[in-house]
Amino acid sequence: MMSLGGKTKALRAIHDEVCNLKASPLYEYRKQNNYYPVLGEGSQDADIMFIGEAPGKNEAETGRPFCGASGKVLDQLIESIGLKRDDVYITNIVKDRPPGNRDPLPDEIELYMPFLKRQIEIIRPKIIATLGRYSMKHIMECYGLSLEIRPISHAHGMVFHTDEPYESLIIIPLYHPAVALYNGATREILAEDFKKLKIIFKKKKST
Ligand code: URA
Repeated sequence: MMSLGGKTKALRAIHDEVCNLKASPLYEYRKQNNYYPVLGEGSQDADIMFIGEAPGKNEAETGRPFCGASGKVLDQLIESIGLKRDDVYITNIVKDRPPGNRDPLPDEIELYMPFLKRQIEIIRPKIIATLGRYSMKHIMECYGLSLEIRPISHAHGMVFHTDEPYESLIIIPLYHPAVALYNGATREILAEDFKKLKIIFKKKKST
């Protein structure tokens, strides 16, 4: 197990590498707009890690993940299960904002994914909650669950077990909180899925 100081150092190294990631097709766009890369925030010892897709404008302007409208939804959902934002870790697959909020391109995902994998292996959450179908797809593919991938309308709230990249990791796909902004039914589903997340979290905590 890595010490807290070791984790801080290892996460700082990722931060510095991403800051200087000139190989990224999003690097110039970041610089031109005085944007920040968005590495992630929260507890380095978090049991739950939330993974979105890529930062939006608010996030790139502040360097903080999920700090806009969908972030408010996420905060409320986290609080609804008795946790605070500081208790969990929140990050994205892609660490720089794609222009005009377009979806990240496959080569961008490929470029940034190793940084996310390192974050996961440093923090070692017991549960990864993916936010949205792209995050679900890439995380499940990455950790040996390709054959279990199904549409998010089926997969949301399901519990997947894997022993990659370490033993007894649980992956729970969730809808992206942005969808809940314009779809009340999805918001209710998310609220229900968070209740499931709370149950799994409590069970995992006691083992
Ligand atoms: N959407 C995401 O996927 N990530 C963020 O950080 C903000 C919005």
